[in-house]
Amino acid sequence: MEFLPVTQESISRAADIIRSGGIVAFPTETVYGLGADAYNAEALVKVFEVKNRPYFDPLIIHIAAIETLETAADLSLLNEETRRKLFILAENLWPGPLSIILPKKDKIPGIATAGLRTAAFRFPDHETARDLISLSSGAVAAPSANPFGGLSPTRAEHIRDSLGDKVDMILNGGAARIGVESTVLDITGENIKILRYGGTPRETIESLIGPVFIEDSSEVDSDCGLVSPGQLKSHYAPRTPLSVFSIENINLLPCEKNTAWLFFDNFSRNVWLKGQGIKHDIPIKVLSASGNISEAASRLFETLHELDKSNVCRIFAQFAPQEGLGAAINDRLKKAAS
Ligand code: TXA
Ligand code: MG
Repeated sequence: MEFLPVTQESISRAADIIRSGGIVAFPTETVYGLGADAYNAEALVKVFEVKNRPYFDPLIIHIAAIETLETAADLSLLNEETRRKLFILAENLWPGPLSIILPKKDKIPGIATAGLRTAAFRFPDHETARDLISLSSGAVAAPSANPFGGLSPTRAEHIRDSLGDKVDMILNGGAARIGVESTVLDITGENIKILRYGGTPRETIESLIGPVFIEDSSEVDSDCGLVSPGQLKSHYAPRTPLSVFSIENINLLPCEKNTAWLFFDNFSRNVWLKGQGIKHDIPIKVLSASGNISEAASRLFETLHELDKSNVCRIFAQFAPQEGLGAAINDRLKKAAS
């Protein structure tokens, strides 16, 4: 496995690897992806194998130009109104942390999409990712570069520690700017639905195309009747058991030995601390001192990775305010806790 800093040379080497059917972990603005040529079924199998990812969980197809949709997506299956909304979203929010479900063309093999006739398309807002995509096949299928069910990687080192030699190359582009995955939006049905909260807030989408529905993944059964494949209740989980509480409820919890604590802001941490006589030396972390939601999102996985290494028996976490990126933070915390 090669672990290389981002340079023009390492990006073109990574593109060679992808073109010849290999897999490369690369940075995006949300989390790191594990990329393979989206048109090469054998390369896609490797992505599932390396992640230990079930084949019913479809991948996201990353593009670096809107025109690629002409090759990979079948927009003729969308009605005029949906097409109009697609272009409003693409013009305003791409490149960016938004994956849009569209009918796919046969050029994208069924394995990429778990046999679905649709695929999730995303145009990342990250120069390295875009260069890599354009220099390889123009369409790179990439899930987050973590073992299935685990915490998403926001740094190249997270991948080296978890997948290591199973990948051909890791491109090190430093810490991810946004820190939570893209929002997954399904525009193919009668109602437009958010299938996964993520880096593009619901409010932003609604300001452009009007009200959207939320597919509540906490209602989804992991064995049968998946509304959105891959949206399992338990996901994004540290190895350490995690419980998540509202501010009111976390304040009722006593600080015990071998526990770690994750607060949204300094204010909440201080309120909790006031009610405690801390008797133990335990990890206590805050996502954003001032309570800035974007900063909190960007630090979520990184902080969970750190707490997971601290050898405690349980992590107690506090919900973020349910607005903007707070919805994505809370979704990840709930899934980490299931
Ligand atoms: O920000 C991100 O989206 C990152 C970076 C690497 O781009 N990628 C990512 O991929 O989070 P992944 O595989 O961890 O999550 C993809 C999820 C699937 O689990 C599934 O829920 C949804 O996207 N998805 C993909 N294709 C779909 C489809 N055709 N229909 C419904 N949901 C789909
Ligand atoms: Mg993932």
